[in-house]
Amino acid sequence: MSRIASAPARINLLGEHVDHQGGTVLPVAVNLRTTVTYTAGDAWSFRSADHAPDGTWRRYVQGVIDVLAEAGHAPRPGEIEIASTVPEGRGLASSAALEVAVAGALCDAPPFELAHLCHKAEAENVGVPCGIMDQFAAACAIAGHVLVLDCADERFFHLPLPPVELLVFDPGLERRLADTPYAERRAEAQTRGTPAARHVADERARVDRGIELLDAGDIEGFGALLYESHASLRDLYRCTTPRIDQYVAQLSQVPDVYGARMIGGGWGGAVLALAEPGTRLESAMNLLSDDALTIHA
Ligand code: GLA
Repeated sequence: MSRIASAPARINLLGEHVDHQGGTVLPVAVNLRTTVTYTAGDAWSFRSADHAPDGTWRRYVQGVIDVLAEAGHAPRPGEIEIASTVPEGRGLASSAALEVAVAGALCDAPPFELAHLCHKAEAENVGVPCGIMDQFAAACAIAGHVLVLDCADERFFHLPLPPVELLVFDPGLERRLADTPYAERRAEAQTRGTPAARHVADERARVDRGIELLDAGDIEGFGALLYESHASLRDLYRCTTPRIDQYVAQLSQVPDVYGARMIGGGWGGAVLALAEPGTRLESAMNLLSDDALTIHA
């Protein structure tokens, strides 16, 4: 008996580092995916054509199996085979895509529950006190829509994405979130008046405004919020890098680009640009991959 499940990578349009503070986030699933084939057998074995043999991905897979067992889903041992087009450590939530694909192949829980189980697996086994955005995006996002997710009560709805080109740039700064000050900055954000807390308050206001602008199809106005978000991540949350700042500064000079910012946990990762449909910037920068040059929602 074999079962196949897959889950997408995400970009986050706006609402960075607000999920762990109960804010609203705006992730979009993109056309980079992790697919898992599970074949029941006598013992567990994990294989991946797209990961280093002894990489941390094994911990994620085992973490999901453990959490499913604790939650009463007790998957039968078997072979887990993984194929993925999601680059790791680039702010595209590769671990969430992997966790949700594994969980989806091993049990029939509905998307909302998959997101929760996988968030638990991430927090317990990987040691990063991350919010719920990535696992919810991997489990619940639908193509061509923004997942408007309120991380305080976990209610969400799908907002159609207006016509826009989503470009993702890879400044070549791979990192593991567990090796960054993610936890330290999250703790700072809980103390009123600190720079990190100010970022969270301002970013939450930007998300509220951003939803209105998206709803009205005002991508130009929405793009301006991306630049503001980036400046706040740089100056208040202090999680960008000089190289990433340079990318965003260069992108701000390109006429067809409405807005750009670092996405994901930070201290590395990817840069997102929102541009006029049809925009191609291949010669300008080192892009993620040819396929991902223009990622599709
Ligand atoms: C990582 C975490 C998310 C979120 C983002 C920053 O992707 O996994 O929960 O906190 O960083 O917005």
